Amino acid sequence: MRIDLPAEAALGATDALVRRPRVLVFDSGLGGLTVLAELRKARPDAHFVYAADDAGFPYGRLSEGNLIARVDRVLDRLIAQNQPDIVVIACNTASTLVLPGLRARYSLPFVGTVPAIKPAAAASRSKLVSVLATAGTVKRDYTQGLIASFAADCAVALVGAPRLAGLAEDALSGKSVDDADIAAEIAPAFVEADGRRTDVVVLACTHYPLLGAELERLAPWPVTWIDSAPAIARRAVHLLGEQGFAPHLGETGATRPAKAVFTGGASLTDKLGRALAARGLREIVVDAMPLADGEHAMAASQA
Ligand code: DGL
Repeated sequence: MRIDLPAEAALGATDALVRRPRVLVFDSGLGGLTVLAELRKARPDAHFVYAADDAGFPYGRLSEGNLIARVDRVLDRLIAQNQPDIVVIACNTASTLVLPGLRARYSLPFVGTVPAIKPAAAASRSKLVSVLATAGTVKRDYTQGLIASFAADCAVALVGAPRLAGLAEDALSGKSVDDADIAAEIAPAFVEADGRRTDVVVLACTHYPLLGAELERLAPWPVTWIDSAPAIARRAVHLLGEQGFAPHLGETGATRPAKAVFTGGASLTDKLGRALAARGLREIVVDAMPLADGEHAMAASQA
């Protein structure tokens, strides 16, 4: 049974909203699916719209100014169309830049995704920690700030992997991906110094857990991989609770199908359609939003 009521609707004494929350999950491409999976487990009753700005992918190559302009423009449209109760920016590369502006412009709650440096530093015994991310994320002041605040006792290797997000997209789309290409992207995250070795690697790009099995298999030695998706889902559920949404309204635990919106759609093959369906995305829409003049990729020196 589906119950849709206005936002103000409340459930008597508990003050809980009796309509389902609408959650917009946003990434440059398919990486945010790793976050969506955790969100759907935590709130199986919610209406999820997964938005992939694949016309802008990869965000790791955009300058900071262009990335902010791009995300603002795409999200303005998605928010107007979908009227979400909460927006999850399932992208480190964007979150480390765009959150203050979005929070200033909207009264909606935004949950961001930022490199999980604090739990990584706490989990490391060797105190050699690596942050595997896009070229954009490793350059951010935000990332430097997290290291200074939470990992001062660690040597942190910031590894910008130029191709890994694209390889993850290829793998999910059913294209063949060479082990050697993945191994080359992750190799700099494995550091040996003074008889110590890296023991924790932060997956600071939501695409990378899509390659979880390959990462485990191709790692030069076993490490703890830190994926922030479960923590993001917990935060989103908490904020929905603060908005008055009672947990798990609806039919006996069944997870509702979700909708996907692509801003380009060029990579939407049958194989990818099946992979999306397997992740609960049954309705797939292309809402074309090509990169505008001020949003194009930067020269390689700035990427
Ligand atoms: N999934 C994105 C992240 O978490 C970025 C991939 C990209 O567009 O470069 O950073």
